[in-house]
Amino acid sequence: MCGIVGYIGEKEANDILISGLEKLEYRGYDSAGVAVISNSAININKKKGRVEIVKSAAKLSGTIGISHTRWSTHGAPSDRNAHPFTDQSGQFAVVHNGIIENYLELKEELRNEGVQFSSDTDSEVIVHLVAKNYQGNLQEAVLKTIKRLQGAYAFCVIKADSPEIIGARNGSPLVIGLGKKENFFASDVSAIIEHTREVIYLNDFQIARITKELVEVRNFHGEEQPLDVREVNWTLEKAQKQGYKHFMLKEIFEQPDVIRETLKVPIHLSKNFSRIIVVACGTASYASLVGKYLIEEIAKIPVIYEIASEFRYKENLLNQHDLVVVISQSGETADTLAAVRLAKEKGAKTVGIVNVVDSTIAREVDERIYTRAGPEIGVASTKAFISQLIIMYKLAFHLAGKEFNSGEIEPKIKEVLSKHEEIKRLAQKYYLYQNFLYIGRNRNFPLALEGALKLKEISYIHAEAYPAGELKHGPLALVSEEMPTLAICPKDSVYAKTFSNIEEIKAREGKVITIATEGDQDIRKVSNDVIYIPKVEEIFYPLLCTIPLQLFAYYIAELKGHDPDHPRSLAKSVTVE
Ligand code: F6R
Repeated sequence: MCGIVGYIGEKEANDILISGLEKLEYRGYDSAGVAVISNSAININKKKGRVEIVKSAAKLSGTIGISHTRWSTHGAPSDRNAHPFTDQSGQFAVVHNGIIENYLELKEELRNEGVQFSSDTDSEVIVHLVAKNYQGNLQEAVLKTIKRLQGAYAFCVIKADSPEIIGARNGSPLVIGLGKKENFFASDVSAIIEHTREVIYLNDFQIARITKELVEVRNFHGEEQPLDVREVNWTLEKAQKQGYKHFMLKEIFEQPDVIRETLKVPIHLSKNFSRIIVVACGTASYASLVGKYLIEEIAKIPVIYEIASEFRYKENLLNQHDLVVVISQSGETADTLAAVRLAKEKGAKTVGIVNVVDSTIAREVDERIYTRAGPEIGVASTKAFISQLIIMYKLAFHLAGKEFNSGEIEPKIKEVLSKHEEIKRLAQKYYLYQNFLYIGRNRNFPLALEGALKLKEISYIHAEAYPAGELKHGPLALVSEEMPTLAICPKDSVYAKTFSNIEEIKAREGKVITIATEGDQDIRKVSNDVIYIPKVEEIFYPLLCTIPLQLFAYYIAELKGHDPDHPRSLAKSVTVE
């Protein structure tokens, strides 16, 4: 959460910093701000709201600066809580991503020394500490400051009369971009890829100093570290809307390509473990739950499903015979990363199914499998989810020692996508309801969870997902004509069971939209509306069902006038606990 950009070079910093922030808005959009050095003074533009507000203000002149787009943790979204923050002299400025957990104690200490705070944030303590610790060397002041900080952070600091930017990382991502007579900091490569493809990913407990000519990286003891320069191999074009109204829609329609690319990913995983634990958050966790069903069904290996934010605080009884598989689009999710670290500590083998190449999780796991979804910008995950599912199929077949015959998937997905107008019409019919139920059974139950999550997060409609057979144990009491149900009921081994559950809903005057297999006429008798998907081998239905669920949520959000790319209160990369 929160995006940071830093620039030092010979060009005007303002535009570079703002265009970088625009690429990072998926990390938060509560406020935005820029600080630029000009004639040994720091000038700041910052405002509550989206980056475009700061963009439309008068440009700051200067060739060194830092910028920030915020996802609020401490302190409401407001002008006063917008980054960058300066110390009282106005000589130092900071932008921060993460949480300083001991900020109250530090704030109290600084207040007792006469410091006046201008915000309600945890971040502001950093700049006052740097100012206090400064004795002629900015890097030394930051190193001293770091010793006082607890929590997770990536931050950048500038000083009005110093031609340098200092960045530090512990828990939140920070990357350095290398240019000609210019260098960059950013939370993620997308912010700087139009300027350079050569990057250095900072590791935790590293601090870097950049000038326009030089980059140096040290550990938190101040010892110089070798520079691990990597080349980024994707283009900016992939991270643009290309004529679609929203990134989310573009990413939904990219899914056939994503499937084709991800099917090519080789899996080389040895089978010497006794059990598998899948761990992830949100949409990625639903992909891992589908994975559990698939691996148990196809490879006959027991799989434990865990939510990362819970996993790290419970007794896990992990040992060196366990295989911990984490899934993460961003590769930066704090809870998932913590699960990796915990698993490694306990001696388990870790595998990461990750989209963002060289992200922290990708670097820390013992083995990594990259999904090939390309940059996913929409905050709600779509194409990354389908790529995660593909890897779970591949993994299940690999572990079973069986061939994965995937030929029918891509054309059938295209067929489902071609029904977008029909799904849009359904959205029109249902978008004013305030509550939804989603049901599914067996490997389609996680799809109900995913469909409900998509609807909640972008349309702000309350939606609950249940295994269809669970309805009678409570939620059926909610069913009325005011609460429609989206039922996932393809022709599979549990079809008759789910069909009966749909009848139970109809008997209580509930409206039902069913995702069903083409040719199934019976389902019409119990459903108000049917979205037909083509017939496929039954294990592949989760892939096909994904599409109508995503499109339904997207069109409803659009009809309600919400921006699906920027759902309220959310950020794409959740780097805090
Ligand atoms: C929902 C969504 C989130 C993410 C979750 C994990 O649409 O995108 O639930 O799936 O925050 O993120 P990653 O996959 O980056 O670890």
